[in-house]
Amino acid sequence: MNILIIGSGGRESAFAYKISQSPKLSKLYIAPGNAGTEQYGENVALKVTDFEGIADFALKNNVEIIVVGPEEPLVKGIHDFFLSREDLKGIAVIGPQQEGAQLEGSKDFSKEFMIRHDIPTAAFKSFNKSNLEEGLAYLDTQNLPIVLKADGLAQGKGVLILESYDEAKAELKAMISDSKFGAASDVVVVEEFLKGIELSVFVLTDGENYKVLPSAKDYKRIGEGDTGLNTGGMGSVSPVPFADQAFLDKVESRIIKPTVDGLKKDGIPYKGFIFIGLMNVGGDPYVIEYNVRMGDPETESVLVRIESDLVDLLEGVAKVDLDKRSYTVTDKTAATVVIVSGGYPGNYETGKVISNMENVKESIVFHAGTKQDGINVLTAGGRVLAVTALEDDLFSALQQATADAGRIFFEGKYFRTDIGFDLI
Ligand code: AMP
Ligand code: GLY
Repeated sequence: MNILIIGSGGRESAFAYKISQSPKLSKLYIAPGNAGTEQYGENVALKVTDFEGIADFALKNNVEIIVVGPEEPLVKGIHDFFLSREDLKGIAVIGPQQEGAQLEGSKDFSKEFMIRHDIPTAAFKSFNKSNLEEGLAYLDTQNLPIVLKADGLAQGKGVLILESYDEAKAELKAMISDSKFGAASDVVVVEEFLKGIELSVFVLTDGENYKVLPSAKDYKRIGEGDTGLNTGGMGSVSPVPFADQAFLDKVESRIIKPTVDGLKKDGIPYKGFIFIGLMNVGGDPYVIEYNVRMGDPETESVLVRIESDLVDLLEGVAKVDLDKRSYTVTDKTAATVVIVSGGYPGNYETGKVISNMENVKESIVFHAGTKQDGINVLTAGGRVLAVTALEDDLFSALQQATADAGRIFFEGKYFRTDIGFDLI
């Protein structure tokens, strides 16, 4: 069958790599893709939010499954668009409809969902223009630090952790009265701070059944020792040593099952990936956030550990018989080191020639922000490449990925050499 992947980052490169191995695949397309995805399929110059264009292309090229990588098209209703047109109904979209996408698109919606279904999460209250004064007074009753979250999508920047009441009040006002994050902060969730270790858990569901995918740890800060500014993600490992089977059993019974059942009870159709960001607080899991897509750079470490045919699983989602599809995961460990442009996550230059990629023999080099220019591959984004190694143990995987990240060159390149070593 023909499959179309929507997106252009490291996550979509990992999807393309895995899907290209399927015996069920005839033709793979990636829209818009990057310089690396072309080794697995054909890039199509379409914007991820050009639903008409994507639909026309899918019809002309007999696409049967569309895998949506990023959240934006989902929150904007790509799945609803396909269901709304008779001629598109036969094309399966992997990713929730708009209503389900609110689990990521609205923090307030996702908090209310968790409360309704008894899913453990940090205590919270939401405020807007009409009750801002009440919100400011509420801050004084909270312990420090205080977590403020813009309700809507704010490109990963909408969460603030404040160490003083004065700062918290100033920020709450800036978010609500001065639209610090635009309309995304018209509503702000004030949340209790959870102290623990973070883990990313991934689930694939057809709305009735689910498979728990490998979990991963993501390294968000730019600097060694997890210091400095937040980024999209500088590296990942899977599995995560502190998430043992006993802990993952709690995650499944207290969070995953109630989430899938809760969606069903609420009458919210959901076919796709659920990314649960959670905190391990003294051995008990609490949800920090839901995302309605896979994580990046977690996907790079997660998909290489899945032994089963991903296309078969996606077909199971489309046909709502995921329970009948075989699913196995390797015990090996995957480690991913992301190479970024100098200056990222602040200002950075693009258009630098990338060389020496052929020197990497043992790891997979997933492209993220890259562009083909004649015979050259150029940098075209902040996160440029994700180098993933799969080895028998954590230490070997970390050493391999880190060493291989060092073998590639472009002007201004930077990567963290400490990814995952905190877990050894
Ligand atoms: P989010 O955009 O919801 O993923 O939040 C960004 C980051 O803020 C998370 O990955 C956590 O590191 C941190 N964070 C969010 N909520 C909390 C919380 N309630 N307690 C502690 N840290 C949090
Ligand atoms: N790695 C975190 C994310 O994809 O949101």
